[in-house]
Amino acid sequence: MDYFRIQGGRRLNGRVTVEGAKNAALPLMAASLLTTGRLRLTNVGPLADIRNLGTLLDRLGVNVHFGDDDTITMQASDESCSEAPYDIVKTMRASICVLGPMLARRKRAVVSMPGGCAFGTRPIDLHLKGLAKLGARIELEGGNVVASCDRLRGATVFLGGANGPTVLGTANVMSAATLAEGRTVIESAACEPEIVDLANMLNRMGARIRGAGSPRIVIDGVEALGGCEHRVMPDRIVAGTYAIAAAMTNGDVILDDFPYDSLLAAINHLEEVGVHVQKLDPNADDLRCSVRVTSDRVLRPTILTTQPHPGFPTDLQAQFMALLSIAEGNSIVTEKIYTERFLHVAELSRMGAQVYRQGSTAVISGVRALHGAPVMASDLRASASLVLAGLAAHGETVISRVYHLDRGYSNMERVLTALGASIERCKETKAEPAEDSVPSIIPAIRGAGLTARAARDT
Ligand code: EPU
Repeated sequence: MDYFRIQGGRRLNGRVTVEGAKNAALPLMAASLLTTGRLRLTNVGPLADIRNLGTLLDRLGVNVHFGDDDTITMQASDESCSEAPYDIVKTMRASICVLGPMLARRKRAVVSMPGGCAFGTRPIDLHLKGLAKLGARIELEGGNVVASCDRLRGATVFLGGANGPTVLGTANVMSAATLAEGRTVIESAACEPEIVDLANMLNRMGARIRGAGSPRIVIDGVEALGGCEHRVMPDRIVAGTYAIAAAMTNGDVILDDFPYDSLLAAINHLEEVGVHVQKLDPNADDLRCSVRVTSDRVLRPTILTTQPHPGFPTDLQAQFMALLSIAEGNSIVTEKIYTERFLHVAELSRMGAQVYRQGSTAVISGVRALHGAPVMASDLRASASLVLAGLAAHGETVISRVYHLDRGYSNMERVLTALGASIERCKETKAEPAEDSVPSIIPAIRGAGLTARAARDT
């Protein structure tokens, strides 16, 4: 199992291009099940989750080709299979995004229930409710969702839940509705930029979708969709993570392909604590522009609450907490999407952070400096927060189980090394503890020459 060894305290300096978004790419890939046309995605990083979904699509009769230049080409050639098996779905919760497309086109979809993840139960009731509204018959059998239909029929679907709208649920229902008969209206739809990216691509394939990015999406069903080529949007969470890394090391970093428009809440909080995110060209496209990130010497505290987009993203909460742990004063972080998403707290505390958690709220009392320690990565974003803490800490930090990071950040250690960090990937030789290990289905990550392991946390 790989681990990172970080010597902290180096200022980050330099220029980095933000990679394509994992959470956009996954539902875009699943859309290959909606057509026998050829789909070509560009700007897709060599990530474990992307590989895993490629393996699943392959089992579902889609020819998947990973190019050397961050492209994936997909074309369904055998539409007879409609079962997404547990051995793959268990490795990645986001496999659920094949459900809507497969049902709409093949009229039947059996997808193993994804189960919970490291930070909560992660239900899929809203996905199922939405598809049932479109006329799907849904049963739960032996741990599988078994969905079938004749042709789906358009309907008005309300997708709000106790913690807000559902992102992948919106992706599932919106994708399925493209082939339904008549008009579907999704109310309380997720407004995340990844939904807009998906709608843009589906429209290029021949779908008729309006309103993506707002809480009301209207889809007029069509008879069939074709192929297309699509460039995946930049990853807002990766962009935010590297911006925080620059801030925590008192660095000076330029980020190209920065999705400014998708990160307004995070930028607002960064500015509150004394981080400057300056657009290099004020007239540049806000969907992908170049920004320079610098910070004041002394960071200030803030109060933040995670919310559905355009609010502060839950996927940046852990990283922001690492930043607040070295701000001067007390900050308050409330997690409203996944109330148990605090696995990073105990590990950050091992590095000297002062965090007091009560329920879904944590009070962070900023310290002068963190100190290096051996810590353990537990899920994707929690792992990222430990890397950030390690970069800013005095001394050496050793982070085990970095396979979590490989799911969502392409070659993170190479990116950070290029910016001047001292971070090295090492191989552990001794035997693994068995209880929480999940077997790998990924032979190798392209380009990085690394083996990665998968666990369900996204
Ligand atoms: N929820 C329900 N019922 C459902 C679905 C969701 O109650 O049927 C609840 C969830 O428990 C949660 C809230 O609704 O409290 C939002 O969950 P959502 O369905 O939006 O999450 P998701 O679509 O499964 C995606 C990202 C996550 C990200 C969330 C929230 C992907 C592959 N995953 O998950 O990303 O945290 O949206 O923004 O797009 C990550 O990248 O680290 C990650 C976890």
